[in-house]
Amino acid sequence: MITRLPTLALTAILVPATILAALGYVTLRQWERSAELLFREQARDVAMMAAGKLDMVMREADKGLLSRLQSALTRPDLGPALDAWRARASLVRDVYLVDRTGRLLYPTVAKGEERSVATRILAHIPETLWDSGGQRELALGDQIVLACVVRSRDGAPALAALVRDVEAIRREILERALGGLEAPTIVAVMDHADRPVYSGGRLGQADRIATAPLPDVLPGWRVAVYQPPGASPRASMRRQVAVYTAALGLLLVVILVGIVATYRVMRRESEMARLKADFVANVSHDLKTPLSVIRMFGETLEMGRVTDDATRQEYYRVITRESERLSRLIDNVLDFSRIEGGRQRYDMVPTAVEPLVRETIEAFSYPMAQQGFKVEVDIAADLPEVVMDADAVGQALANLLDNAIKYSGEQRQIAVAARVEGEQLALSVADRGIGIPPEEQARIFEKFYRVGRSETQGRRGSGVGLALVRHVMEAHGGRVTVDSRPADGSRFTLWLPVRARGADA
Ligand SMILES: Nc1ncnc2c1ncn2[C@@H]1O[C@H](COP(=O)(O)OP(=O)(O)OP(=O)(O)O)[C@@H](O)[C@H]1O
Ligand SMILES: [Mg+2]
Repeated sequence: MITRLPTLALTAILVPATILAALGYVTLRQWERSAELLFREQARDVAMMAAGKLDMVMREADKGLLSRLQSALTRPDLGPALDAWRARASLVRDVYLVDRTGRLLYPTVAKGEERSVATRILAHIPETLWDSGGQRELALGDQIVLACVVRSRDGAPALAALVRDVEAIRREILERALGGLEAPTIVAVMDHADRPVYSGGRLGQADRIATAPLPDVLPGWRVAVYQPPGASPRASMRRQVAVYTAALGLLLVVILVGIVATYRVMRRESEMARLKADFVANVSHDLKTPLSVIRMFGETLEMGRVTDDATRQEYYRVITRESERLSRLIDNVLDFSRIEGGRQRYDMVPTAVEPLVRETIEAFSYPMAQQGFKVEVDIAADLPEVVMDADAVGQALANLLDNAIKYSGEQRQIAVAARVEGEQLALSVADRGIGIPPEEQARIFEKFYRVGRSETQGRRGSGVGLALVRHVMEAHGGRVTVDSRPADGSRFTLWLPVRARGADA
């Protein structure tokens, strides 16, 4: 169940997430397409509208220009009259007037160059214009010419060629007509060579999205609508996709982290349940062993079968020792449960170290002697008194001794040492026993944790001893360390601050 959980959760989350991502992407694509379409349509409308407006404004200007020209032509003094007309016609750069035979009527005093320009323009005027009358726009190289058949004073048709002043058109027509246009796009007017004559913004990186020609008034010219960089639906779509993908990715990461965390918590919980079951079995067994010894010796004594005084004394000692062991065991479990419940209190008083260490070792003298342990005790002289809860530290030390005995093999040697290192009292218990694999050294301090069954086979224990030791040390502002190699032995050291908080005050 637990191992299947991640796969299950992954499928249950990844499948909907993938569908969601795909759907989101498709929706965004569709949205992009319709937005793009709409955008282009709008741009086309803007271009048409601008072209229409320019057309109207130009026609209006031309109409005034031509009617004034016509009235100037009725004056007897053609030269000065046209000069006066020209002075007012700012949109016209040059004007040429010819009769049907090709004679230049104006400018009255023409230079050779002007004459050739006039001839060139005339060559482009279709014959039909003379007969049909009216006006025509011509693009001659860079020049835009408005050709128009007019009546001269004597009634004969004459041709007026007005060369437009591009700069004046830009200034007076384009800027005025398009300047006020408010749009997210840029409106520009391009000449016949696609050079911008006017633009409502910077065209540098902009994309052209729509154009509309100005065929009647400015041949070859057109209105172009541009899109500033980054404003296109595609760019905003790309931003949306990036945001969407990032959000989805973040969501997936959060979900995955959640699954992993849940999985780990569940595995821990089931491991804890197994450890607790082991704990109950181990504690019951540990309690039963001394109890049956006490009972057996008690019954033997009760029956009065032991006549020998020395043997009787020996039996009494066994009973006392086993009940002490029982008390120790029960104390361990009770203290542990108090610690777990946060109800443990410590009674901190300055305590002499040497007597405490010796008494604790003394309590183990019988089992050690019986199992043939050699004990080496090395207590530094002039150890200061240390502020501590003597019972708790004694119990921690007893746990280390108990482990040293329990986890020793053929080499039955224990070394207990007490010394001051820096600002700390170091109480160490070393054995030459089975040792602890490096990867287990951190875990042995966890509650209920016991190193793999094979290592501890035949050695019962509840797995709370070192958890208790660690807690006691932390409560004293100290710590417990282990230095161990498998098959070589272990050294556990209790570190206690010599000056406890407030002790020197
Ligand atoms: N001196 C040691 N040498 C080798 N392994 C040890 C030693 N001390 C502890 N261990 C390992 O650490 C584990 C945890 O020790 P701890 O004292 O907490 O529990 P325990 O001895 O199994 O049970 P108890 O609660 O009865 O002390 C032990 O099961 C053992 O595997
Ligand atoms: Mg132990």
